[in-house]
Amino acid sequence: MTRPSSTQDIPEASLVPTHVAIIMDGNGRWATTRYLPRVAGHAKGVEAVRGIVKACVARGVAYLTLFAFSSENWRRPPEEVSLLMRLFSTALEREVSRMHANGVRLRIVGDLSRFDPVLQQQIADAEVRTADNERLTLTICANYGGRWDMLQAMNKAAATRPGSTEFTEQDLAPHLAMAHAPEPDLFIRTGGEQRISNFLLWQLAYTELYFTDTYWPDFNAASLDQAILSYQQRERRFGRTSAQLIEVRKAS
Ligand code: IPE
Ligand code: IPE
Ligand code: MG
Repeated sequence: MTRPSSTQDIPEASLVPTHVAIIMDGNGRWATTRYLPRVAGHAKGVEAVRGIVKACVARGVAYLTLFAFSSENWRRPPEEVSLLMRLFSTALEREVSRMHANGVRLRIVGDLSRFDPVLQQQIADAEVRTADNERLTLTICANYGGRWDMLQAMNKAAATRPGSTEFTEQDLAPHLAMAHAPEPDLFIRTGGEQRISNFLLWQLAYTELYFTDTYWPDFNAASLDQAILSYQQRERRFGRTSAQLIEVRKAS
């Protein structure tokens, strides 16, 4: 099913964002300020993920998307990259049963072909096992890049219509990595940087943006509530005027 596009139709608004997307940043600095190795920050970051998944389930957030490893993160020192891979694999091993028991459907999106085949298998197994869960869809973006996403979707759309030179948004949408979810309502970036870093470029077109200095390992349920409160105070106009929105609300 193709989800409504924020540049075509106005998605339904609700008090609790349906889809929260997060750039989990600041693990390294969290560790460095404590004279710990950066990997200690990443390990602590996994604990924060557990807490935020639980908090999202409790608040009725239906989709949570987390940026775990970007297509640019391969540029990090090889030891850090391999530790991150190991951590990802251990986290899957340890967390999937708990997630499954809590009704979480797990999706991992990105160019997974570059991962170790064992990790690829683990990912596939976790997705199959949790496929029918409906309480929360947790999407992990791994070796993901917004430009990669648009290009791979474009290539797939082109392959389904050989010879075509003109494509619409609707042709592209089903091939995007996040086709299983509506567009994010609320974007959060922890760690103080105010940039998108090649995250969901297409899907964030009309998302409300929230930045916090809190390092990801310190981001907890109360921090999430603060972000949601900020979201609830925004007026999402999708190109329209405030007066028009009042009319639309009256009519519905
Ligand atoms: C985010 O934390 C986690 C990943 C990118 C894997 P960082 O590792 O970027 O932490 P900082 O930004 O160096 O503090
Ligand atoms: C973005 O964080 C990617 C993830 C959180 C996985 P980075 O810390 O890698 O972002 P930049 O490169 O500093 O923008
Ligand atoms: Mg960072």
